[in-house]
Amino acid sequence: MRKSGQIAAKTLKRALEAVKVGVTELEVDEVAKREIYKLGGDLSYKTVPGYKYATCITVNEQVVHGIPTSRKFVDGDIVSIDLAVMYKGWHTDCAWSMLVRGKGKGERGKSEKTKFLKVGEEALWLGIDQAVEGNKVGDISAAIGGKIEGSGYSVVRSLVGHGVGRSLHEDPQIPGAGVAGTGPVLTNGNTLAIEVIYAKGAKEVVLDSDNWTFKTADNSLAGLFEMSVIVDKEAQVLTDWRKV
Ligand code: MF3
Ligand code: CO
Repeated sequence: MRKSGQIAAKTLKRALEAVKVGVTELEVDEVAKREIYKLGGDLSYKTVPGYKYATCITVNEQVVHGIPTSRKFVDGDIVSIDLAVMYKGWHTDCAWSMLVRGKGKGERGKSEKTKFLKVGEEALWLGIDQAVEGNKVGDISAAIGGKIEGSGYSVVRSLVGHGVGRSLHEDPQIPGAGVAGTGPVLTNGNTLAIEVIYAKGAKEVVLDSDNWTFKTADNSLAGLFEMSVIVDKEAQVLTDWRKV
């Protein structure tokens, strides 16, 4: 799983670097796919029936499970890349949201978007801090939810983090909001995909017409931050793209 996570982290870094004004979602998916194969990994998402891409890419009001399309990124878009890798049958899953910045364009709304993204990232690290042996799943949920909702945003309740390992999605479910001290106990060696799935407006999401993509019901902006970790005395982060 460490090797799988390293491939995922390097790929996420490449994919985020590829996101620029005028580039399409499909082009970024291609960058990710090539990187995963180059590094000796395989596409975890091909284990999902009916899905054939390396990534899910969501923009602005889209929340998760966006199918890469020929849509071009524009200045001011919030773009989230979600990708998972399979290496020798071991899966890791990660996602990150970023703001697209064009050249010489105005700053309209950008500082608010930057703040929105910063809160999501901070919530992820606070959640990860709770992924230690002896804690409970609710400790992770409470840490994430407290940060997001304490900042005036909403945690999407119907989409959750999850165990990860031999399969992309395993038990337990890891909600982004909940009560500390409740839920399954975390033990040393558990591998989890901790996810912060949140919106600037209300928490409700709807399925889009493509039957895959979830978007916010009120069309407010959404963000997505996810890392795969090993529960230990201190959580070991497997997919930190900033460190590869
Ligand atoms: N990475 C997503 C998750 O975090 C799963 C995407 S499955 C797909 O659970 F089929 F939509 F790609
Ligand atoms: Co996931």
